[in-house]
Amino acid sequence: MSNNNNGEKPVLGFRLKRSAGCGSPEASFDGKEITVNGWVARRRDHGGLIFIDLRDDSGTVQAVFDPRESEQSHSLAEGVRPEFVLAVKGKVRMRPDGTVNPSMKTGEVEILVVEAEVLNSSLTPPFEIKPDINVDEKLRLQYRYLDLRRDDLHECVRLRHRISSSARRYLEDRGFIEIETPQLTKSTPEGARDYLVPSRVQPGCFYALPQSPQLFKQTLMISGFDRYYQIARCFRDEDLRADRQPEFTQIDLEMAFVDESDVMAVTDGIVASAFQAAGKVMKTPVPRMSYREAMELYGTDRPDLRFGLRMSTLDDVFRETGFKVFAGTLKKGGSIRGMKIEQGAGMSRSDLDSWTKRAQELGASGLVWFVLGDEGFRSPVTKFLSEDELADMKSALGLEKGDAAFIVAGDRAGCDDVLHTLRGEVARKLGAVDEGDFRFVWIVGFPLLEFDRLEGRYKSLHHPFTSPTEESFEMLEHAPLEAEARAYDIVINGIEMGGGSIRIHRREVQERMFKMLGMSPDEYEAKFGFLLEALEYGAPPHGGLALGLDRLVMLLAGRDSIRDTIAFPKTQSASCLLTGAPDSVSGAQLKDLGLKTSFDS
Ligand code: AMO
Repeated sequence: MSNNNNGEKPVLGFRLKRSAGCGSPEASFDGKEITVNGWVARRRDHGGLIFIDLRDDSGTVQAVFDPRESEQSHSLAEGVRPEFVLAVKGKVRMRPDGTVNPSMKTGEVEILVVEAEVLNSSLTPPFEIKPDINVDEKLRLQYRYLDLRRDDLHECVRLRHRISSSARRYLEDRGFIEIETPQLTKSTPEGARDYLVPSRVQPGCFYALPQSPQLFKQTLMISGFDRYYQIARCFRDEDLRADRQPEFTQIDLEMAFVDESDVMAVTDGIVASAFQAAGKVMKTPVPRMSYREAMELYGTDRPDLRFGLRMSTLDDVFRETGFKVFAGTLKKGGSIRGMKIEQGAGMSRSDLDSWTKRAQELGASGLVWFVLGDEGFRSPVTKFLSEDELADMKSALGLEKGDAAFIVAGDRAGCDDVLHTLRGEVARKLGAVDEGDFRFVWIVGFPLLEFDRLEGRYKSLHHPFTSPTEESFEMLEHAPLEAEARAYDIVINGIEMGGGSIRIHRREVQERMFKMLGMSPDEYEAKFGFLLEALEYGAPPHGGLALGLDRLVMLLAGRDSIRDTIAFPKTQSASCLLTGAPDSVSGAQLKDLGLKTSFDS
């Protein structure tokens, strides 16, 4: 089929320009003549009549092609296929009784076509353009423009716009101004690898794409801007997961002369406005929980608070135990961590065995389960434990009849990792997660530093520009791991949605921090000399935070992957399947840059 009418030559423009969107006709349009332009979503040939659902950005409407009304349009409709682009002119009329479609916004009406024009034809799409298709994601990413035509993804992209637009509005109403910061910059240590860009004019030198605008936004505070924000693109070369992309977007902000509660209050407001933009309600202020409590009860600093399954440390319960596995772990300085599973006693023996296997897959040496039934505890290890131990364990975990418990012994961090993963999986399996529920929490009181055993040095938990609390500055000397950071993370349903901190604003403190991280003065001068110098020119106290926009949209759109919230995302191996990036470049381009790759042939 050629994309013209009546055998005329193809035209560059078109005649029948729309007077309404496909999603607009409703009962009040009855009798009106309108023209719509859109894609063929569905075509049904009922012998005499042809029905076409025409879709555009605003919705879908049914057009009826009746040969008695227009012979020409009807014969044109005969050759039309899905995803052809059509212009249709006709009279809106109420659908006959019994044919109203309540699931369509325009379902009460239809357009009786008097004139039609094919604006373009379409090849047969490699997958159907409809919600909930079961198609390999690679194919969807290769044909992303078709994937994005599908209602559910189309709506994700629109929701993303509404959320970023509501954030802008919220921030601008409160005196924040948007300031762009460079994309070609110097590497800042945010914890991931940098994407590097070679310089042509300075051979052998590289820019880094920003992992975040961290140092620029701090510098803007020193420049006297009181409240900065930016919908900022960030680049991190790290292992990708469902909630991580190599390039992603932050709602980034920084404020001068503030403390933690000011930044947290603004963030609560941004998130609440995003929820409103998605038609949902969020209660503020978001409650706070200490890092210590989160780690003790949930084994993670991003707890999902939609369900129970809390953890306890059982070291004291089993301090004197004769059960070799527990005794051995405690002797080696390890820990015994238990998780209460409310109403878990109904799990079958094979369920329990498969959770044990799962724990081992996750790296635990084993998993001990207990079920508290009518006849007391059932477990493969009850015979090794005393009555007192069982009673103490029951009270430490708060177990009641009908509950179960999982216990893991080993090094504390390892136990927590395993139980944290199991917690989510078990809750889902038991149907304890209300998917429509949202639970928010601020995690505060983070340690300032952690010790990296592999590298044999301290590392910042947030980043090196985060201030320690007043009380813990002294601790850097004698107990660095106990020093507390003025940092905060906002967590929703177990997803780390954003994080930030009050920053160091004095040179001597920043230098102390760099030294703590094992940097020599030469090293930190070379990397951060500009920041240290700027701090000496009257840097105000300041702090800020960044929210992950992609993750916020993912949560509000009810999707499992941030790829669905990004118009043109990358795959797990950081490729763009639509354009074929990354790609090799010509020898001439490399020569210009003074580069040779070890893959050159
Ligand atoms: P942070 O590194 O915690 O802080 O990042 C802030 C938020 O950005 C999101 N995020 C990501 N989203 C998708 N893909 C990724 N690879 C990715 N990495 C991070 C998360 C995270 O909570 N400059 C500091 C903020 C500050 O201190 O003001 C920063 O970037 O939602």
